[in-house]
Amino acid sequence: MNKIDIVLIAAVAENGVIGRAGDMPWHLASDFKRFRAITMGKPQIMGRKTFASIGKPLPGRTNIVVSRDPGLAIEGCLTAATLEDALALAKADAVEKGMDEICIQGGGEIYRQAIHNADRLRITHVETALEGDTTFPEIDPALWKVTEEERLPAGEKDDYPTCYKVYERRR
Ligand SMILES: NC(=O)c1ccc[n+]([C@@H]2O[C@H](COP(=O)([O-])OP(=O)(O)OC[C@H]3O[C@@H](n4cnc5c(N)ncnc54)[C@H](OP(=O)(O)O)[C@@H]3O)[C@@H](O)[C@H]2O)c1
Repeated sequence: MNKIDIVLIAAVAENGVIGRAGDMPWHLASDFKRFRAITMGKPQIMGRKTFASIGKPLPGRTNIVVSRDPGLAIEGCLTAATLEDALALAKADAVEKGMDEICIQGGGEIYRQAIHNADRLRITHVETALEGDTTFPEIDPALWKVTEEERLPAGEKDDYPTCYKVYERRR
């Protein structure tokens, strides 16, 4: 059986900001398209607040929402009381569907816990610094090396230019 990698996927401003007032502080249609392509078919783990900001399960993917509320039930999603339980559910789903990645899609609280066990980071660096209340943890170059990089000028439906980078954990 192939290894199943744990991958954090996020859009991050130059000052680390990823969110403001429960939402994303930008509109980036090109990045949304890339996110959809990268994540399709793969299990998705997200914090309860990120799910609330999206408002509905992402189609074509198993959505796993992490919450400490044992009574939480969300139509179309699996729920998990711990990150470890969420990872176990995601792994079973990936095995069943023949997928090689588990996607951790935020938000700040979940990224901060999950980065320690991650194999790969897929980061869209948003080329602006702006105010926000949620940040991505530091990406330490001693631990992570860039293996892919693609700069994208702002398209018609993008607020800012971006640079998409894939980081692999140094072994
Ligand atoms: N730029 C990006 O790529 C990106 C991606 C995703 C999200 N965001 C933004 O990030 C913000 C949301 O992030 P956030 O940090 O506020 O919240 P979050 O990480 O989405 O969710 C936090 C919630 O997850 C649950 N949780 C966290 N750790 C847990 C654990 N170990 N065990 C069980 N449950 C756990 C708790 O839910 P309960 O309170 O129910 O117990 C907690 O309140 C929003 O602004 C969103 O738009 C940005």
